[in-house]
Order: sequence, then C-alpha cells, then structure tokens
Amino acid sequence: MNDLSHRFSVAPMMDWTDRHCRAFHRTLTKRTRLYTEMVTAQAVVRGDAARLIGFEGVEHPVALQLGGSEPALLAKAAVIGEGFGYDEINLNVGCPSDRVKSGSFGACLMREPQRVADCMAAMGAAVRIPVTVKCRLGVDEQDPEESLFTLVDLCAAAGVDTFVVHARKAWLQGLSPKENRTVPPLEYGLVHRLKAERPRLSIIINGGLETLDQAIGQLSYVDGVMLGRAAYHIPALLGRVDAQIFGDAVAEVGAFEAVETYRPYMARKLREGAPLAAMTRHMLGLFSAQPGARSWRRILTVEAAKPGAGLEVIDLALAAVASAHTQAEAYMMQA
Ligand SMILES: Cc1cc2nc3c(=O)[nH]c(=O)nc-3n(C[C@H](O)[C@H](O)[C@H](O)COP(=O)(O)O)c2cc1C
Repeated sequence: MNDLSHRFSVAPMMDWTDRHCRAFHRTLTKRTRLYTEMVTAQAVVRGDAARLIGFEGVEHPVALQLGGSEPALLAKAAVIGEGFGYDEINLNVGCPSDRVKSGSFGACLMREPQRVADCMAAMGAAVRIPVTVKCRLGVDEQDPEESLFTLVDLCAAAGVDTFVVHARKAWLQGLSPKENRTVPPLEYGLVHRLKAERPRLSIIINGGLETLDQAIGQLSYVDGVMLGRAAYHIPALLGRVDAQIFGDAVAEVGAFEAVETYRPYMARKLREGAPLAAMTRHMLGLFSAQPGARSWRRILTVEAAKPGAGLEVIDLALAAVASAHTQAEAYMMQA
C-alpha cells in the first residue's frame, strides 16, 4: 500500500475501542485509522452481527479486527464485515489472552505462519477491501527474526501488503495478557529492519509509544505508527494528529471542542437507550495534565454512573474544568 492511509492509527483494544470510543476519537481526528475491538469470526458469522460489529458512518476510516484461524470461517466473517462498510479487515495474530491460547487464534498463530497465510488468502479472495495482519515478533522461545520474517513473507506471498507489528514477543507461558504488554522487551530495530528489507510492504509499528514526538520519530523508519494505551488514556493527543502527523493545514482540536462535537452523538445514543457512562468512560483522560482534570474525571465517574444520567453531567463536569482554567489563569496573571 505504502500510502498515507496507515500513517497513524489507534490500536484495537478489547472492551475499550468500542463504537462509542471510536466515535469519540473521531471528534479529535479525521485522518487517524480506527480499529474495532477483536471480534471472533465465529461470533460474526453465527452471532448478532449488527450488535457486534455495527458502527456509525462518522467512524471511517475504520478497520474490523477478527480473531480466528479457520480460513473459510474468516472469509465469511470478512464478507460480512465488508458488507457493513468497513474499510479494512485485520487478523489478530498478537493477542495472548487465556481464551486465545486455548482456541488457536491470536499470538499462538505465530507458530503456524502457513495457516495464517491461508487465512489471509481466503479472506483476500473473498473481499475487495484490504486484508491486513497485526502480529507480534514471535512467541516464547521463537527466534523473533525468523518468526516475524517467515510470517510476513508467507502472508505477503498470499497477497497481504500491510502489517502492524507489536514490537515485542508474547510469552504465552507464565505472563498475564497485561504483563505481555509490558514485560517482553520492545525491539523496534527488528521492525525497522523488516521495513528496510521489505520496502514494498507497508509496515506499521506498535508498542510502547507514548507521545506524538515518538510517533514522528518512528515515521523515519516505517510507514505508520499505531498507538494503543497512550491514545486511550490521553485522547487529547489525537487532536494534534491531523496537523502534526498528516501535515493537514488544520488547527489542533482542543478538548472542549471535542466534547461539543461529541455532544449530539451522546444525545442520540441516550435517546436510543445507551447509558451515559458507556460513552463517558472513554473520555475520562480528556483533560489530563490540564487544570480541572481530576474534577472532570471524578464528576464523570460518579455522576454518569447514576441511573438516568444525561448531558447535564457533561455540563457540570465542563463547568468544573472551565472554572479550574479560570483560576489557573488568574494565578498565572498574579505570578
Ligand atoms: C485493554 C487492551 C485490550 C487490547 N485488546 C486487543 C485486541 O482486541 N486486539 C489486538 O490485536 N490487540 C489488543 N490489545 C493490544 C493493543 O492493540 C496494542 O498492541 C498494545 O496495547 C501495545 O500498544 P501500546 O503500547 O501503544 O498500548 C489490547 C491492549 C489493551 C491495553
């Protein structure tokens, strides 16, 4: 692909990047590629697809991440995803949770690269949108260079040209999923080398990146960066992505502006019966490092959880932040 489409993305995160979260992130950035939580192919094919993978038009560009290891089932799920209007189907070859260890999907598939390639070929043949892989460097005792390059080469031969690499191994023995996001060491150099040695492939780096400056630094070596936890916990950084990462001639989107853009969405979802907390839980970090951040977080956490909570909670929280800003400004004037 090697275009700008994957230059910056927010990672798929189970229980976090649901549709409310993605709609919220979209208020801050038009260009960032957003990913769904992982949904198993089985659930998409046999379950209530509309509930599981339905999304709002505002979320584009948005990719559906699937979990699974059966080519035919994945192909069916991919077709359903394409039918819903997703821009990309991504296969999870990186998730180390207990559930995925027992079924054969997620990071344990790093041991079965030909199977992954078969899955990608089946999905690629079934849909017109791009099919991509998100993987680790390897698992457990694997030589990361060998496991990564073998997986990428076999998938590339099956027609895949875009790979997101979480730049650490997964240790399937003895670490929790959370530890598997911090303990195995990051090896960015190997991902840079993958790009250098496979220049025609689009290589996206992921893992441990915390700031836009770090992301920009990575773009000297790879085609794109994917942020997970930092984007979720400090969503305000997304407000600078379109200008700083994509070079668009647009102003930074501030936190107050993002809330106002999100307001009609929240109003509509409240009318449809969604609880306010389902949306506000993704916004807790919006004002982090700004005056009033703690009040914002506290009011949203406590008040939005009450039965029948509506947009008045947002107004209350915004008023607390605005007042903290005023106080901080007055203090600065005096100093
Ligand atoms: C709460 C949470 C849920 C996650 N769920 C998924 C998932 O469904 N699919 C996936 O490929 N990775 C998942 N990940 C891993 C992230 O996509 C990403 O690879 C990882 O957090 C490293 O990036 P970061 O250091 O920028 O957070 C999850 C991570 C977190 C924190």
